[in-house]
Amino acid sequence: MKKALIFGVTGQDGAYLARFLIKRRYEVHGIKRRSSSYNTSRVDSIYEDPYKKNRRLILHYGDLTDTSNIQNLISDILPDEIYNLGAQSHVKVSFETPEYTANCDALGPLRILEAIRNVRKKKNIKFYQASTSEMFGNTPAPQSEKSILSPESPYGTAKVYAYHITKNYRDAYKIFACNGILFNHESPLRGETFVSKKITMAVAKIKLGKQKLMYLGNLDAKRDWGHAKDYVEGMYKILQQKKPDDFVLATGKSFTVRKFVEDAFKCIDVQIIWKGKSLNEIGIDKKTKEVLVKIDKRLFRPNEVNFLKGNYMKAKKILKWTPKINYTKLVKEMVASDLENLS
Ligand code: NAP
Ligand code: GDD
Repeated sequence: MKKALIFGVTGQDGAYLARFLIKRRYEVHGIKRRSSSYNTSRVDSIYEDPYKKNRRLILHYGDLTDTSNIQNLISDILPDEIYNLGAQSHVKVSFETPEYTANCDALGPLRILEAIRNVRKKKNIKFYQASTSEMFGNTPAPQSEKSILSPESPYGTAKVYAYHITKNYRDAYKIFACNGILFNHESPLRGETFVSKKITMAVAKIKLGKQKLMYLGNLDAKRDWGHAKDYVEGMYKILQQKKPDDFVLATGKSFTVRKFVEDAFKCIDVQIIWKGKSLNEIGIDKKTKEVLVKIDKRLFRPNEVNFLKGNYMKAKKILKWTPKINYTKLVKEMVASDLENLS
């Protein structure tokens, strides 16, 4: 039986990856952070009683900013594969907490790589680093493994460090260390402060009469939105190759935030029409004339990444990976799930 260790198991991707690996008969170890309130809701349905024998999911307390904790966990568990999905993953928040973001997102993966290096004589551990399309910044689309990295945020900059240190350790110490450069991926488990989930939850609440309107920032940014379920399969495939390498995972299609809003409202039979410009722009229900979307300048970022669209041809050719769930299905699934959960 293979053992996997997931940093970030309580996050969106960690929850999907844990389920995916358990299905493939892995023993999954996950790192959760100490919190004053419960933070394991995404993995509660696969949680197992600590007194049960032969558990498939085992949770440990840990933190990417704690070197000794990481060293101890890795040398005790000695997993076959480590997936580092842990991060301060919010781009806008990274402008407010740049130092913490660097500590967690840049030095965190370095700490894991050092721990892997320290146990090399006992076990060759494979390592997956959650790299991101945010590293490309405003490099022209479509972005591929060969595109220039030019991050526009403290988050993107920290992730560029993590990307390079992963490659350094692969080259210098022959560690099986890989980067998955993933474009935006969403799901019903997406964090509520990311734009997709913020929109689908607001649409569901408006439909149920629990909210009147939503506030958004830049409506014109374009993102390549896929489904997290497809992307965790890609992560797994990256670690099953003969040679360690880096891969872009994306859908190759890109849509504006504005279109996401329109399509989410379509799911509840509301057609949005836009009026006004810039900070005074509003989104109106064509039938009732009610204002459902307003702009709040506080939701803009100091720097914006305008256009992300990935070229995933390398993953298609080598990993035989293609995304199965398209954008339209994704939006519908997220709205339906929020309607069900909130009603
Ligand atoms: P997420 O939902 O925000 O999950 C992040 C996870 O990291 C959570 O489990 C969180 O724990 C954990 N974490 C945060 N700070 C930590 C720390 N100091 N020590 C240990 N764990 C910590 O993010 P996601 O969407 O699943 O993304 C997974 C990874 O892929 C992240 O590294 C992200 O940067 C990267 N990525 C995401 C996307 C995307 O579109 N989703 C695209 C490209 C790359 P808590 O639950 O306690 O907060
Ligand atoms: N969060 C948020 N909230 N974003 C908004 C809002 C709002 O109210 N209004 C407009 N946006 C715009 C942002 O300015 C950005 O251009 C776009 O919506 C997407 O924002 P997010 O959903 O927060 O995602 P992100 O693209 O910044 O970052 C996500 O994708 C990266 C991969 O490219 C995160 O998952 C990162 O962790 C990931 O690396």
